Amino acid sequence: MIDIATETMLDAVPMPVLIVDTQERILAGNRAARGVFSDFAVGRPYVTVLRQPQLGAAVDSAFREGQASSVRVVIAAPRRDMVAMVACSLLPEGLVMLVFEDITALEEAEAMRRDFVANVSHELRTPLTALMGFVETLRGAAKDDPVARERFLAIMEREAGRMNRLVGDLLSLSRVEAEERRRPTTKVDVVAVVKASIQTLRPMSEAAAVTVRLEDEAGPILVPADADQLTQVFNNLIENAVKYGASGGEVRVRVTRLPHEAVLRGPAIQVAVIDRGEGIEPLHLPRLTERFYRADSHRSREQGGTGLGLAIVKHIVARHRGRLRIESEKGQGSRFLVILPEV
Ligand SMILES: Nc1ncnc2c1ncn2[C@@H]1O[C@H](COP(=O)(O)OP(=O)(O)O)[C@@H](O)[C@H]1O
Ligand SMILES: [Mg+2]
Repeated sequence: MIDIATETMLDAVPMPVLIVDTQERILAGNRAARGVFSDFAVGRPYVTVLRQPQLGAAVDSAFREGQASSVRVVIAAPRRDMVAMVACSLLPEGLVMLVFEDITALEEAEAMRRDFVANVSHELRTPLTALMGFVETLRGAAKDDPVARERFLAIMEREAGRMNRLVGDLLSLSRVEAEERRRPTTKVDVVAVVKASIQTLRPMSEAAAVTVRLEDEAGPILVPADADQLTQVFNNLIENAVKYGASGGEVRVRVTRLPHEAVLRGPAIQVAVIDRGEGIEPLHLPRLTERFYRADSHRSREQGGTGLGLAIVKHIVARHRGRLRIESEKGQGSRFLVILPEV
């Protein structure tokens, strides 16, 4: 048995701890362990609770050789599996103590970082390969062909532009992430920012034969914000609506005051960017704000998209303690809602 003082102390340890006796039975476990291991019971052979063979080997070597060790195991839990580093060490009187450190989030973050680097490399390599190919053609086969040269130079310019946009978007993404914990405090007029975005994108929307209209423009409407970042948000949302919703012929931007927004628990400003394009299949909706996720990658690339726009939007909105909601119905168009706390 373990005395009350030790038990209280064990319970105060935030990570799961198990103590195994010389009979290989569970002698004690703390509160965290009882939460993780559903079959936990004092007196049970520990192998009925922990079936991972690597762990058995570590416990054995602790018993036999007094050797402390650390093993990585995956523990099936009711809600989600947990990846743990288990430190296994010998206590006095031949007891063995197992301490479980949850490294699930760490491994997930590492996997995300790996994916991100792989994605960036892939996105950069495609235009780079094209550029290198055309340089070679211009040196060789197309050397004395002025018509081909012009055509290839135009393609090279487009590919270099794509790389340039990608690098620009990556830089903004890392800048926004770095500042995410610092909430902006200056008051910015949302209506003015939206108007400026519409103005900036006018050449593009005119070329696509899309009218962009601002409704309810009874400004100014002030919110604590970073004006440059807010501009980036509306530039990207309106640009997307024009690019991907062009078939609808019009994009509406509606600014509304919400006296009490339930999720933000207070007064908020909602900006809706609404198109009447083809809309987005429901299966894509939850993933649209992931880096490099595209509902239609061929179309996005053709339009020069980097796949980072909505990821940047999401981070900027998060920095403003706001919410981004995406609603869409196939064939009806899409609504992107940016909700910002008014105070
Ligand atoms: N208004 C819209 N209508 C339909 N699809 C959209 C709309 N806005 C975004 N999408 C989809 O979401 C994807 C991600 O958008 P974004 O992150 O801005 O990347 P990009 O525009 O560079 O491709 C786009 O590739 C497109 O498939
Ligand atoms: Mg975009």
